[in-house]
Amino acid sequence: MKKVIAIDGPSGSGKSTIAKLLAKKTGYTFLDSGALYRATALKLLNLDIKEDTPDRIIETILNNTKISYNNGRVFLDDKDISEKIRTPEVDRYTSIFSSRSCVRDFLLHIQREFSSNNDIVTEGRDMTTIVFPKAWRKFFLTASDRTRAMRRYNQLKVAFSDIRYEDILNDIIERDERDSKRSISPLKVGEGVIVIDNSELTVEATIQKMLDEIGAIK
Ligand code: DC
Repeated sequence: MKKVIAIDGPSGSGKSTIAKLLAKKTGYTFLDSGALYRATALKLLNLDIKEDTPDRIIETILNNTKISYNNGRVFLDDKDISEKIRTPEVDRYTSIFSSRSCVRDFLLHIQREFSSNNDIVTEGRDMTTIVFPKAWRKFFLTASDRTRAMRRYNQLKVAFSDIRYEDILNDIIERDERDSKRSISPLKVGEGVIVIDNSELTVEATIQKMLDEIGAIK
């Protein structure tokens, strides 16, 4: 395995933006694991798969599904769906289907495979605990509910002008609850993970803090 800088954290903690910039600074390749979960959920959504659909049906679908990630773009069955996965509907579906072990098993191999040839910076919910527990460096980024909801609101309002801040806040609280309480791969602070609360920090300040930590433990 090459070097892995693994970052976990809840939605809106800035981990995607931060991981991308950290990858640029270190020269490592960026892997957004949430994009893989979103692409998988989009496939299931397109096929009208419901929450109570049995695992074996989902497994059969996923055995015939190709998901790949290249240069910040995510591909579903060779189609670039990078923009299509960023909607509130896909947000919700992804949170629901990412708690299924058949979905997580399917993506585990894709994620680990990605690090076999590249030094990577990756972010998600179980990067530091399940996918890369032996990562070279491990971080958990977080921020208050309200700060995270406001960040998400500012991102989404560009494309969805009728979106309401209160709805986003409720969505975030609901998703956090689902992501951290699920029985498989819950979002949590793992062993040897450095926690950074960036509610009051800019993106640049957060990255600097991470680089300082990386330097300090080198
Ligand atoms: O980071 P994001 O908002 O793009 O993630 C979308 C969803 O995917 C979120 O509900 C949690 C889930 N996810 C996960 O369960 N495990 C990961 N490693 C990454 C994302």
